[in-house]
Amino acid sequence: MRVLIFEGDRTVLRPLFREADDSDRAIDGYLQAGEVFVAEDRGELVGELQLVGGESGEVELKSLAVAGDRRGGGVGSALVAAAVERCREQGIRRMIVSTAAADTRNLRFYQLQGFRMLRVERDAFGPDQGYAEGIVIDGIPLRDRIWLDREL
Ligand SMILES: CC(C)(COP(=O)(O)OP(=O)(O)OC[C@H]1O[C@@H](n2cnc3c(N)ncnc32)[C@H](O)[C@@H]1OP(=O)(O)O)[C@@H](O)C(=O)NCCC(=O)NCCS
Repeated sequence: MRVLIFEGDRTVLRPLFREADDSDRAIDGYLQAGEVFVAEDRGELVGELQLVGGESGEVELKSLAVAGDRRGGGVGSALVAAAVERCREQGIRRMIVSTAAADTRNLRFYQLQGFRMLRVERDAFGPDQGYAEGIVIDGIPLRDRIWLDREL
């Protein structure tokens, strides 16, 4: 498995982006933004990580997803490590990320990657933002967004 910057047509990555975000409308708004890293294994794209911003010394980890059958095998951690290394080279000092408060596995993942809780954005996920009514993650309604950050 190797991690590289993706230079191709990002529409092929849309199914992976969709794994990380239930709103097609939201994805439409950022799919083409920033820089995307991909994890490739034997010619297959098994993960993506998107960075947006960076000009002010702060970058947002906007999207991160690993193919369903490859999760728990270190691909996500490798993508984060590659993104952090590149940001450091560019003098970027801080990375922020957000995820659903309902998604305790993601909260665990990001804290294992060195991120710390920053703030809560209530009612960030609703029909107004393109999220269907009634989405539930591990029994918890999808509703609030948690922001985390990490000094680089
Ligand atoms: C979150 C995600 C990117 C992590 O990538 P990964 O390659 O599975 O993670 P790694 O193998 O590097 O790290 C394993 C850790 O990730 C966490 N994790 C989160 N979701 C997981 C999942 N679905 N399967 C396995 N581990 C998961 C666990 O805490 C695990 O540590 P543990 O085994 O000690 O519990 C990946 O699971 C994924 O694509 N999930 C669905 C999309 C998503 O929710 N993206 C984030 C949106 S903000």
